[in-house]
Amino acid sequence: MSSENTYNYRVVRQFSIMTVVWGIVGMLVGVVIAAQMAWPQLNFDIAWLSFGRLRPLHTNAVIFAFGGSALFATSYYVVQRTCHVRLFSDGLAAFTFWGWQAVIVLAAITLPLGITSSKEYAELEWPIDLLITVVWVAYAVVFFGTLMQRRIKHIYVANWFYAGFIITIAVLHVVNSAAIPVSLWKSYSVYAGVQDAMIQWWYGHNAVGFFLTAGFLAIMYYFIPKQAARPVYSYRLSVVHFWALVFTYIWAGPHHLHYTALPDWAQSLGMVFSLILLAPSWGGMINGIMTLSGAWEKLRSDPILKFLIVSVSFYGMSTFEGPMMSIKTVNALSHYTDWTIGHVHSGALGWVGFISIGAMYYLIPRLFNRELYSVKLAEMHFWIATIGIVLYITSMWISGVMQGLMWRAVNTDGTLTYSFVESVQAMHPYYIIRFLGGALYLAGMLIMAYNLYRTVVGAKPYEAAIPAAAH
Ligand code: HEM
Ligand code: HEM
Repeated sequence: MSSENTYNYRVVRQFSIMTVVWGIVGMLVGVVIAAQMAWPQLNFDIAWLSFGRLRPLHTNAVIFAFGGSALFATSYYVVQRTCHVRLFSDGLAAFTFWGWQAVIVLAAITLPLGITSSKEYAELEWPIDLLITVVWVAYAVVFFGTLMQRRIKHIYVANWFYAGFIITIAVLHVVNSAAIPVSLWKSYSVYAGVQDAMIQWWYGHNAVGFFLTAGFLAIMYYFIPKQAARPVYSYRLSVVHFWALVFTYIWAGPHHLHYTALPDWAQSLGMVFSLILLAPSWGGMINGIMTLSGAWEKLRSDPILKFLIVSVSFYGMSTFEGPMMSIKTVNALSHYTDWTIGHVHSGALGWVGFISIGAMYYLIPRLFNRELYSVKLAEMHFWIATIGIVLYITSMWISGVMQGLMWRAVNTDGTLTYSFVESVQAMHPYYIIRFLGGALYLAGMLIMAYNLYRTVVGAKPYEAAIPAAAH
């Protein structure tokens, strides 16, 4: 029996294609808002084109549409391949695809219209939240149902990370989105004041930890060994990595609320757990990178491996920077500045973006049984995108630190050295550089879309069709 009949690749193909499509859409909106920060007249005085409305559209599109589709695609692929069994239910899997796309389309309509709960990364209003809950439960049933029917006794570590991601996101979403509806498109959070802030950042930080990290670590643990044709460097370390990471992440949220009305002990607790988080994060990074030991030369010629390994390096960088920023005295400078934005995008473009791109270059040719159309174009994509990230994050580091220093500078008589608008003026060149960096990253995505399109419609069959039983 061909592996096409054994496994459900249809839903994997659908999510993979949408990963590329939503990546382009979300990043295009990112480039637009980056341009608006450099040239505010690009708002065109149209409410639904204004920065305040497009910004959540950007974050929702890149995190939940692009990142989410990559996670659905890879988890459905990996769980089937490593358990040697077809997805638990084709019907439910198809429901998760169409349901998730419906959520994205509803987000793309409601956010520009200004319909929002105003909770960051959880802006969607209650009817959409309910749809998300239903889709997520169906996702959990498909994933865990497949795990339960597995033909291989052992549960490969990538599945542990996917499982942790699915369960935690379910809990976070339900708790943080609890709200009292007052009309079809307006609701109020059931929490108030500092409790609301605490719940929101318990959610927000763990959205980073479990949506933007745990699921993508699963991608790392499956796709790096596959592409490098090497076993995971240390399987024992991967298990320690998993438990240490999930235990530590969940406590670190208060670092988003330093110097607020949150009790001081809770802020310090968040800081300490963020510092501890460096250890499991770097344990994971070392495990991912060292998987290449004995096969380093492959990095020279294989752009897919370049994406995957550089991604893990960015993971290491942003998980070093994060704990530093969580130290209260450092945060006193970095908070509210572009430094945070630089940190976010070294994680987002470098880690999440690159690991997803690497996985798509691996998956799409195999799913369509075709050879990748052009390795050269993939190589070009890698370099253009890398230069884009470097421009983005270095400009934000400089402008962030500068902003922080300008805001706190005082004259000998105690008055502020700079007015706020002077700091805004000083940012202008860096906003242009960030725009250029973002535009390069987006250009890379377009090259990828072309390359993968030519791959899919191409006539060159994949050399070795996917072996029936590989993990
Ligand atoms: C072409 C690529 C991209 C560009 C040009 C871009 C640009 C931007 C801009 C201009 C902002 C607003 C910054 C501000 O308010 O000062 C932003 C925010 C954000 N972006 Fe991106 N972005 C890109 C890709 C991504 C990707 C791939 C992700 C996630 C996977 C991402 C996640 C975020 C998040 C989470 C924020 C909010 C940060 C915060 O509130 O601290 N972005 N982006
Ligand atoms: C050990 C790991 C990490 C720690 C301890 C950490 C810590 C921090 C800290 C202290 C902030 C600034 C909070 C503020 O001043 O408002 C922050 C912001 C942020 N980080 Fe990280 N970070 C880590 C890894 C990552 C990774 C890997 C990503 C992305 C994939 C990421 C995404 C974000 C986002 C999106 C924000 C902005 C949240 C917002 O204000 O909207 N972080 N992080």
